[in-house]
Amino acid sequence: MVAAEHHLVAKDILRTFKSDDGTELIALQNFNLEVDHGEVVALIGPSGCGKSTFLRLVAGLDMPQGGTLAYNGEPITKPDPNRGFVFQQANLYPWLTIEKNVAFGLKANGVYKEQQGRVQEMIDLMGLTGFEKSYPHQISGGMAARVAIAQTLVMDPDVMLLDEPLSALDAFTRAVIQDEILGICAKFNPIVLLVTHDIEEAVYLADRVVVLSPRPGTKIAEIPVDLPHPRNRISDEFIAKRHEILDALQFD
Ligand SMILES: Nc1ncnc2c1ncn2[C@@H]1O[C@H](COP(=O)(O)OP(=O)(O)O)[C@@H](O)[C@H]1O
Ligand SMILES: [Mg+2]
Repeated sequence: MVAAEHHLVAKDILRTFKSDDGTELIALQNFNLEVDHGEVVALIGPSGCGKSTFLRLVAGLDMPQGGTLAYNGEPITKPDPNRGFVFQQANLYPWLTIEKNVAFGLKANGVYKEQQGRVQEMIDLMGLTGFEKSYPHQISGGMAARVAIAQTLVMDPDVMLLDEPLSALDAFTRAVIQDEILGICAKFNPIVLLVTHDIEEAVYLADRVVVLSPRPGTKIAEIPVDLPHPRNRISDEFIAKRHEILDALQFD
């Protein structure tokens, strides 16, 4: 990652879809968000409020009908390996080994020759050492989530879009990978947008928690989490933050 400041700005985003009966379904409306270099922002809100839609817009996989979305002052119009997406269901290539899954983006972008050393580096960083030659069906869900993160990280992204990447995991594995994500943040300082339905996860990882309303999704609260790392999940301050977010999610 280069030393330049990175900045993501979403202004008055509108994204609607046609539902099956032909009526307009408003996924996001008047959605505003600004994220600075190195910030970890958690997005939390009820199912169907447009969280994944927003990440897809930031990834450049989709376009809004209204509003503006800019990264470093440039409108986002298409995907870019600089903005890496980690999906809820780790989308690994079943016919490729772990090593080749991690190398895939480098090859697809024609930079494998120069950067192949990064493959082993990311495998080691994500605790996958020794599983280089394994296939996706031979590894656990927790390891698949790690591979999915390594696949994105190998591209040295400035923005990481994490769409509930840990939601299918048991609590212990989730806690271990949360610490690995914090390690990545400390080392590479990317912008991270993390969609999660786990309030504890949001407070543990994020610098800021953005609470969305039920559809049409719009920002109803923005809660800074100014606790030093490593955070103690059972400290009074931590629990107070959880309550603050839970209160914001009551939609009264
Ligand atoms: N491609 C699409 N076509 C039609 N409706 C969609 C599409 N993508 C999302 N939606 C709808 O938009 C709303 C928001 O979806 P989504 O962003 O996936 O919600 P969340 O991730 O917050 O659960 C949902 O009602 C969903 O059904
Ligand atoms: Mg979603």
